[in-house]
Amino acid sequence: MKLSIILAHPDKTSFNHALAARVVNTLKQAGHAIRFHDLYKERFDSHLPAGEAGRETTLPPAIRRHCREIAEADGIVVVHPNWWGAPPAILKGWVDRVLRAGVAYRFVEGDMGEGVPEGLLKARAAIVLNTSNTRAEREFRIFGDPLQRIWKDCIFALCGVRLFRRRMFGVMVTSTVRQREAWLREAERLVLKAFPPCRTD
Ligand SMILES: Cc1cc2nc3c(=O)[nH]c(=O)nc-3n(C[C@H](O)[C@H](O)[C@H](O)COP(=O)(O)O)c2cc1C
Repeated sequence: MKLSIILAHPDKTSFNHALAARVVNTLKQAGHAIRFHDLYKERFDSHLPAGEAGRETTLPPAIRRHCREIAEADGIVVVHPNWWGAPPAILKGWVDRVLRAGVAYRFVEGDMGEGVPEGLLKARAAIVLNTSNTRAEREFRIFGDPLQRIWKDCIFALCGVRLFRRRMFGVMVTSTVRQREAWLREAERLVLKAFPPCRTD
């Protein structure tokens, strides 16, 4: 399968980078074709310029490439920390610019944008791996787990991706090396369940 893996964390020594590396290696070993983007490393430009959201526009080559890859992906994995109950701005910009009309969704004929769009992504599954410093119970009870709503409903369901899985690892700041190693193994199992090894025969 063609799998797109998107990482948004500025620090190379972070657990997020370790998570993404583990996911990339696991899925490569399972025989999948991986397209990996470290958005900070490639200095992804998260700024949506005036006019770009419209239909009649010429996209910069980097955005065109991201759009092509996400449209071709059979599966998607996104890795990022919880920042204010939201993705880091660089990743929000990737969503704004790459998951655009005509690539990730479209409005049916006669609908100028007021109706319910039709999802266009062919990816059958999307996995979001998050890290956080808030206990899960408090994240649900006090904040309503906004990342679940954003990724599951506002983004992937709208873009037509049926299978959605998300795991928020934490509490990061007090975690031990042993705990982190167990989380990395859990991430491996999670991605392999959604994207089983390719048959070579
Ligand atoms: C700008 C910013 C906003 C953050 N907002 C939250 C938050 O709303 N909830 C939370 O639990 N942690 C928050 N954190 C903590 C990060 O989630 C935490 O540092 C990260 O998950 C740790 O992962 P890492 O070891 O890969 O850096 C925030 C951190 C930063 C830098």
